[in-house]
Amino acid sequence: GKKDGGGAGPEPASNEWKVGAYLSLSGAETQFGKDTQEGTELAVEEINAKGGVKGKKVRVLFEDDKSNPQEASNKVLQLINRDKVVALLGEVASSRSKAGGIVANKNKIPMISPSSTNPDVTKVGPFVFRVCFTDDVQGQMGARFVKNKLNKSKVAVLYASDDLYSSGLANEFKSEAKKLGMTIVAEKSFLKNETNFTTYLNEIKSAEPEAIYAPVYYNAMVPIARQAKAAGIPGNMFVGGDGWHSDSLVNDAGEEMEGAYFTNHFSPDMPSPSSQAFVKRYVEKYKREPSALAAQGYDSAMLLFDAMGRAKGDTPESIRDAIAETKNFQGATGAITIDAERNAEKPIVIVQIKGKKFTYFDTVTAK
Ligand code: PHE
Repeated sequence: GKKDGGGAGPEPASNEWKVGAYLSLSGAETQFGKDTQEGTELAVEEINAKGGVKGKKVRVLFEDDKSNPQEASNKVLQLINRDKVVALLGEVASSRSKAGGIVANKNKIPMISPSSTNPDVTKVGPFVFRVCFTDDVQGQMGARFVKNKLNKSKVAVLYASDDLYSSGLANEFKSEAKKLGMTIVAEKSFLKNETNFTTYLNEIKSAEPEAIYAPVYYNAMVPIARQAKAAGIPGNMFVGGDGWHSDSLVNDAGEEMEGAYFTNHFSPDMPSPSSQAFVKRYVEKYKREPSALAAQGYDSAMLLFDAMGRAKGDTPESIRDAIAETKNFQGATGAITIDAERNAEKPIVIVQIKGKKFTYFDTVTAK
């Protein structure tokens, strides 16, 4: 017999857009997911206050992938099959965006990663995009900064060998450093689950580098910075990448990291009108300053809504085409143009840690 509410009849015409977001809302990189969710929610609030997209409100369904790549693909499949989302937002960590992106692309649902910088992520296929720069550019700019701004040539590199982002960025830095005639005096890698870095740090110290490039996530950088200080390595010897940007880094190791620089997407004090407008609205809503992740979460959602509004139809395919055509979109992190490889062309911000705060230092552009 027929059960109440059962049966596979046609779905009722929806009066809202359903977008899926998969993020690390628990597990090792919880802060990445939470910050991104806050930026995304601000974007949803703003678009719906303006009446939504093409007269329909937008709803973003958030799923927690527990900081795990396998769980990321499960959640993406669930958002597509069960929730019938028209587009996806996520993830932050490149390893998880790659896993989720494979599923999104296979099912022809467009996905925009807010913050995944590893080149492999968008190579997955035509449905996967990002609103951030890539690590070939980030590693290059990191090496040039050390050589040309800090005037340092003897460098050590410390990274997680079993993480796509960390090992990829370390390689990009090394190849540019070699092109610039710099010397890599020590190279040490660890596994993501390690917590004691003292041996690596002592070996690095005895190689006498002038700077240490550590493209690792904030949760690894906190113990590294503390153990470095204990080993007599000052914080201002470290240079890093966007993975450092979390309040936990300055809260838990701000003193140890005094003077360190890193390449990033955004800084709340950066001198750009669209960034300042975003910071003002974010502070009003959350009563504290946004991180780069929050700004990127906001930009990925706003750029998607803009594309949905421009799309010729309401299907995932036509939304995909509109994302691909995005030019000079004014985001919280600056102007974003999506290139032929589905990556974002945009400048890189250099941030310095000063007095336990992230401080804008410079904006640099590739080439
Ligand atoms: N870029 C990192 C990755 O691709 C993610 C990240 C971005 C982390 C910004 C922190 C801040 O894995």
